[in-house]
Amino acid sequence: MEKVKMILDCDTGHDDAIALMVAARHPQIDLLGVTVVAGNQVLEKTLPNTLSVCQHLNLDVPVYGGMSKPMVRDQITAGDIHGKSGLDGPVFEPLVREAEKKHAVNFIIDTLMESDGDITLVPVGPLTNIAMAIRLQPAITKKIRRIVLMGGAVGLGNCTPAAEFNIYADPEAAHVVLTSGVPIVMMPLDLTNTALADMKIIERMEAIGNRAGKLFGDIMRFTLKSQALNGLSAGPVHDVTAVTYLVVPEIYHTKDMHVDVELDKGLGYGRTICDVNDRYHAEKNVTVGLSLDLDKFWDLVEETLRRHE
Ligand code: RIB
Ligand code: CA
Repeated sequence: MEKVKMILDCDTGHDDAIALMVAARHPQIDLLGVTVVAGNQVLEKTLPNTLSVCQHLNLDVPVYGGMSKPMVRDQITAGDIHGKSGLDGPVFEPLVREAEKKHAVNFIIDTLMESDGDITLVPVGPLTNIAMAIRLQPAITKKIRRIVLMGGAVGLGNCTPAAEFNIYADPEAAHVVLTSGVPIVMMPLDLTNTALADMKIIERMEAIGNRAGKLFGDIMRFTLKSQALNGLSAGPVHDVTAVTYLVVPEIYHTKDMHVDVELDKGLGYGRTICDVNDRYHAEKNVTVGLSLDLDKFWDLVEETLRRHE
């Protein structure tokens, strides 16, 4: 089977790091590059976090620094969940790995424009890099095979009652992406919150016995602590569900529907409006993930982590 060519755009972040671990080693994925955006923490932290994961696991993939601020709104971060560093918990070796000199937005544009239109973008943080690339070079919308993103919610948000973090951190960027005409698959909180790593999953991955399994455990044990503050006994690996969709779409239940984002700066700011019952009879611009086979999902995560050194 031909490999899926993808670019991971992330704000590393605990679940971003696991998404990277899967994208970098799955046999059916050709990870062309990793672009980093401000989100869970400021770019000065999400970029080195991403580089540290690549260095620790000896991942030979180029990493590009991207946008450090949202397009319009004031910046927000998620230190309450991901800690001061943005990736609290694991301890990495002193960082020597460097980011590429090219800006992430230019890497996205150049790679897409030189391609045969066979590249999937997988953004799992705020959509600032993707939106800026579309605004800088609109021609890329015809060259993007598909965008498979983690973000939004059909129901309740997690940053406000209305909005999920990745969208709320840059709603205007989400608007640019949702109205771009590019085929979009969206993994909303309603699905990603079921991909929960509890102690059983953590111990299962640590039992693999390699660096990747240990890093999974260190990452998710920290997440468990911060989730416990919310009364939860497991941590959702939100971002991983966007990557695994590329290789096993058949384990997902999805529905095509119109999705838009609220830009009025009221209580609903950043909410994804998902027209599940087609009330507006508008263009069904997004394939929305509603549920997934969790046994098959965790089997795939384990199999892929086993492929690491
Ligand atoms: O709301 C979950 C999303 O916000 C995930 O991408 C997580 O990494 C944070 O960025
Ligand atoms: Ca993320």
